[in-house]
Amino acid sequence: MNAMRRRSQVFYLGLMHNRFYVGDTTVSETALYVAKIENGTVIDHITGGHALDVARILGISGREKGTVTIAINVPSKSYKTKDIVKIEGRELNPEEVHKIALLAPHATINIIRGYKVVEKKIVQLPKIIDDIIMCANPACISNSNEPVRAKFYVDCEEPLLLKCHYCGYVMEKKDILLQF
Ligand code: CTP
Ligand code: ZN
Repeated sequence: MNAMRRRSQVFYLGLMHNRFYVGDTTVSETALYVAKIENGTVIDHITGGHALDVARILGISGREKGTVTIAINVPSKSYKTKDIVKIEGRELNPEEVHKIALLAPHATINIIRGYKVVEKKIVQLPKIIDDIIMCANPACISNSNEPVRAKFYVDCEEPLLLKCHYCGYVMEKKDILLQF
């Protein structure tokens, strides 16, 4: 009982210094919250506030079998804060990666096997976006029954501006979020 009480006091002190203490080891707060995964994908450096959008893009419903970890507003060295999504037992397809790049142009996709990072890709937005999103202009020919596939030019990556090849409508991030 005494030992337990002592441990919880140490835990509390640790918190005050923004660190958790596990036995004799100091573990940074974020490392403890966002545990390492054995096999799967870590989407790191997601633009703060977009983790749940990334989860939606990936169709994560909360009812999958494997572990999914979502961390929001984690302190980051390069940017003020970042979000992280970790998915056990799944690797992403190129369409999913392009959709993530629309919302989180600095995200890194880490493939994990046997607890090791075996591949690290920085997402990259292609200059031309084909087919993965629809034009927000209902009158656009790409939204008609004509056999025309939606196509956009990336006018600006941040803030995101996509110009429709057919009608010239300029889509912003908020127009795109409505589609995911
Ligand atoms: N990671 C994980 N499980 C593992 C290995 C790594 O969840 N078994 C996570 C790390 O916590 C980190 C990301 O995958 O969020 C990338 O790991 P790593 O390349 O080791 O980290 P950094 O060097 O900090 O990555 P970067 O240079 O991309 O910032
Ligand atoms: Zn259009």
